[in-house]
Amino acid sequence: MASVETSLFDLSPATQATQRNTVLGSEVLAGLTHDPKTLSPWLFYDERGSALFEQITDLPEYYVTRTERSIFAQHAPEIVARAASGERLAVIELGAGTASKTGLLLSATAAQQGSVEYYPIDVSESALVEAKRHLERTLADVHVHTRVGDYTDGLGRIDAPGMRRLVLYIGSSIGNFEPADATTLLRAVRAELSPGDQLLLGADQHKAEPLLLAAYNDAQGITAAFNSNVLHRINRELGANFDVDAFRHEARWNAPKSRIEMHLCSTRAQTVQIPSLGISVHFAAGETIHTESSYKFTDQQVLSILHEAGFALRQEWKDAQGWFGVYLAEAI
Ligand code: AVI
Repeated sequence: MASVETSLFDLSPATQATQRNTVLGSEVLAGLTHDPKTLSPWLFYDERGSALFEQITDLPEYYVTRTERSIFAQHAPEIVARAASGERLAVIELGAGTASKTGLLLSATAAQQGSVEYYPIDVSESALVEAKRHLERTLADVHVHTRVGDYTDGLGRIDAPGMRRLVLYIGSSIGNFEPADATTLLRAVRAELSPGDQLLLGADQHKAEPLLLAAYNDAQGITAAFNSNVLHRINRELGANFDVDAFRHEARWNAPKSRIEMHLCSTRAQTVQIPSLGISVHFAAGETIHTESSYKFTDQQVLSILHEAGFALRQEWKDAQGWFGVYLAEAI
């Protein structure tokens, strides 16, 4: 089995599990006692949630992944040449998951400079193990150094002397943050970089509402399973007694905020016990838990986030329909 370096490497597995449960518990406590009820989207990504997300990326309705991939398929050599500007690149990926789209960028980088050191960072160890196994089997000149952890912690522990860092934050994961938090996150990324280092940001664009709604409410029900997986996780890890079938998946387009929202809607009045948190949570019939926002961007919005975070745009690439944007920016 591929080995993975963790940020908690000096803690025993039991202590790590306790720490994770404490973080999970405080998120769930804060979210379910909030009015309206919310849960953070990072809670989706346990092993099953990560596998369901991989299935989403292949769905016919979910245009996001294949559209971004088509941009890389067409422009990867140009993107990495522009990022490198004659220097040697080390490629770092935030929230890499199984790195399924990254191969195109990595092989273009390896073709340009002979080989490439690749540092995928993710909270999901299982996804990183899969990424390392897959990439090292298919791309001989790519050396994979996995980092389990959050972005800024993971980024801070990467030493790439003599190389210009190219940080990938693709897949429109930036859209799962509130706008102010997106800026804070990119500012924290910027703080770990040196002037001249590069950021490649993928951002899903505004488009017709029916396309957006279908992408988050697919016919096979995979997105619904991904959404309700968070309740299974809370049952398993916090001993709650959610009747998962009594919550329905809902995707809504919030036009004023320019975001898709995912909710879990209680189909009846019910009370859920979470003994490990010492709480009972009451739901009225039709009340929802807001589990995710997925913001959709204009160029203007992306430019302003980049600017506020300390990056200058160098170039952008879009697909022919203008559904997805890939932005190369430089740390200033
Ligand atoms: C990871 N993230 C960019 C996805 C999105 O489109 O917001 C998560 C997702 N949620 C439902 N489908 C996909």
